[in-house]
Amino acid sequence: MQNTFVAIKPDGTSRKLVGKIIQKFEDLNLNLIGLELMQVSRELAEKHYGEHKGKPFFEDLIQFITSGKIVAMAWQGHNSIEVIRKIVGVTDPLKAAPGTIRGDFALNIDQNIIHASDSPESATRELKLFFPNCNFN
Ligand code: CMP
Repeated sequence: MQNTFVAIKPDGTSRKLVGKIIQKFEDLNLNLIGLELMQVSRELAEKHYGEHKGKPFFEDLIQFITSGKIVAMAWQGHNSIEVIRKIVGVTDPLKAAPGTIRGDFALNIDQNIIHASDSPESATRELKLFFPNCNFN
């Protein structure tokens, strides 16, 4: 079993896509083991997206993720990181396949609905950041 972190971004919550997204993961028989509707602080956003610091899109990214409520989630299942990344689709919605969350619901790379950990190391780090009181790893 593998645990991973997923966040439905402010565009996903404001467009009322939370239920649809959770349904897709549950249809895959993944287990929802943590969930919180939350407002991300600038401090948490900068930690979460630390690897992008210095990139041209960093400031917009921080502004956007702190602009409204997100749904932070922990999901568990066999190969959950890879399975979830596949259903989420590639970062740029223009290149994301139809049937994926980004391919079906997003129009641009800045507002791409959802974030999912891209490796076991990222999952461990991100789960600790967003669920500091839970021991998901
Ligand atoms: P996410 O998976 O949350 O990880 C970093 C985010 O930065 C990414 O989704 C995009 O929403 C955003 N982003 C904006 N521009 C770029 C870019 N050129 N390359 C990668 N990510 C970008």
